[in-house]
Formats: sequence, C-alpha cells, structure tokens
Amino acid sequence: MSIKDLKSIKKEIQESLESAKKAADLNNIFKKYLGKKGKVSLILRNLSSLPKEERTLVAKEANRAKDLLTREIDDRLKEISDKEILLAERGEWLDVTLPGKKPEIGHIHPLTENLNKCIDIFEKMGFSLVYGPELEDEWHNFDALNFPPDHPAREMQDTLFIKQEKRESLSSKKRLLMRTHTSPVQVRYMLKNKPPFKIIVPGRVFRNEATDASHEVNFYQIEGLMVGKNISVANFKAVVEEFYNSFYEKEIKVRLRPSFFPFTEPSFEVDMQCTICNGKGCSVCSQTGWLEIMGAGMVHPNVLENSGIDSSKWQGFAFGMGDRIAMMRHKINDVRLFYSGDLRFLNQF
Ligand code: PHE
Repeated sequence: MSIKDLKSIKKEIQESLESAKKAADLNNIFKKYLGKKGKVSLILRNLSSLPKEERTLVAKEANRAKDLLTREIDDRLKEISDKEILLAERGEWLDVTLPGKKPEIGHIHPLTENLNKCIDIFEKMGFSLVYGPELEDEWHNFDALNFPPDHPAREMQDTLFIKQEKRESLSSKKRLLMRTHTSPVQVRYMLKNKPPFKIIVPGRVFRNEATDASHEVNFYQIEGLMVGKNISVANFKAVVEEFYNSFYEKEIKVRLRPSFFPFTEPSFEVDMQCTICNGKGCSVCSQTGWLEIMGAGMVHPNVLENSGIDSSKWQGFAFGMGDRIAMMRHKINDVRLFYSGDLRFLNQF
C-alpha cells in the first residue's frame, strides 16, 4: 500500500460522499472504508508490514483520511437527516392559518326556487297543490278541453305524439302524447272532486318547437283552477294581482286582453306591467310597458260538463303561466339558460 494508493482512496471517498443522498448511502460509505474490513481500516491495521520510512507517512495520511471521513459523514448525516425529517414533517404538516378548502355545496335550482315561492303564495290563498302525469292521453290533453277533433288548435300546441301500434284505431283515451300544457290536470281533478275548490298544478310540459330565447322543448307551467258558485273574472283579477304583488314583492299592475283558448270562455291574455322599466317602455317589453305573462279565462261550460260538473250550478276561472315569471324576476332574457345546466349561470343564484 503506497501513498499513491491512499490518495486515490481519498479521492474515491470524496466522490462517493458527494453523490450520497440518503443516510443509508453514508452508512455504506462508512462500512466500505472504516468498517472491520474497510479499506482505510485495513491500511491502518497493516501498518506494521510497511517499511519504516513509509509507515509514518502512510499512517499520517490514513489517519487523516479516517478523520476526514468521520467528520464528513457526521456532517452530511446531520444535513441529510434534517432534510429527511423536514420532508416527512411537511407531508403531515397542518397549517391552521391557511384558508380552508371550500366544499362545493349544491343549491336549489332557480326554477325550483321560483316554483316553491309560487306554491307558498298560492297555498296562503288557500289553493291546494295537485299533480298530474307528463305522459298524457289525447282525450285529457285535447278532447275534454273542448278542442274540436282535427281542429288546427291541436297543431297550435306542437304536440309530441307517442308512437303506438295501430294508433289511428285507438280511442283518444288510449292515444298517448307528452302533455302540451298542465290544463289536462283540470279535467283529471274535476272528474274526482266536487266543487267548490281551488287548486294549482305545477308541472313539466312539452312542445315540439324550435328553441329560441323564449321557447324551449320542455318547460314548466303552473296551472290554476278555481271553481265555485259565484266565481267571476273579478275574483280572478284579485287572485293574480295578489299573486304578482307577493311574487315580485312590489305592486304590479295587471291588465286583461281578450284572447282565445278552446277551454275558456271568455279567454284572456294577462299582461303585467314591465318590472324592468315600471311601465315606461324598454327593450324587454318592446317599448309597450306591458308583458304577456299568462293565458286565462272562465272555464268553458263544455269542460265542466266533460269533467262531470253541472255547468248550470258551478263556474270558475283557470289560468296557466310559464317560466316567463322567473325570467322577469331574475331579469333573464333567454329561457334556455335555465335548462342548460351551465354552472357559470346556476352559481349566480
Ligand atoms: N293551457 C294554456 C297554454 O298552455 C294556458 C291556459 C291555461 C289558458 C288555463 C287558459 C286557462 O297556453
């Protein structure tokens, strides 16, 4: 073993120390050089076999290498284990001052919230809540509501008919369609209940229409029906005014215009004063100050008779309104937004 060998061992030690990354690497280095059979240990143990002149020199160098190695290993070990502890701690570290992760909580859809508000208001006025089927038959959706057979009024509602075998030969009570309005529930209810009564019927309706800002293929309606001994248009006007005042939480002017529905006589279109411009005229109400908000009328005697109610004793009003009331409340100019499922829209409510 010469001085030269020792020098190269020292170089080797230096290099492996530099590349050591973990505490285990350092332990291996220690074993390799200073362990029982370590390279440096062997040199030191065999010093006696060296010629005298060389012995002192080699002894000095070997001891230096040993010192260097112990010191370096100690230092590096401390450095590495500090780092390892820090890393381990970082994984479990809980900084209580950091802002928490906000859990995403869902909320009621604006249309549902509107519906709930409507139901609340009508229930306070004594109306009962009634539901009917979305898959309806032609008799309830049209015939019983006084739509003449093959009358274009049936087409007026852009009906989605259900494919059925030998459909033409089926009776209208068996011919199925997706209800085009909630009015068939008037008939369903009157067939089973004796007047007087007042009900509202919220529900989904379907129309085979091209969609645009004010038309959807499926949308929600709220039907109203009040039947009694002396129910008049005046009662109707009082009910809708009360409803709109509560719904929009301010006084809303309402006006009735003559219109046509096969199931009401007289029929009217109900306008409410535009809530955006308060009747002054704006782009939303096409400068008229009024917005068409529901269809209504006095229940046609034929509808009462078709539903088993004596039209000489009973009379009443009916109305139907769509998603427009929600659009007006939230100042939304495109009904499709409500059905888009777009969270950027929904999260604003
Ligand atoms: N069913 C009618 C529609 O969908 C609205 C309406 C209901 C009109 C009740 C009068 C009475 O357009």
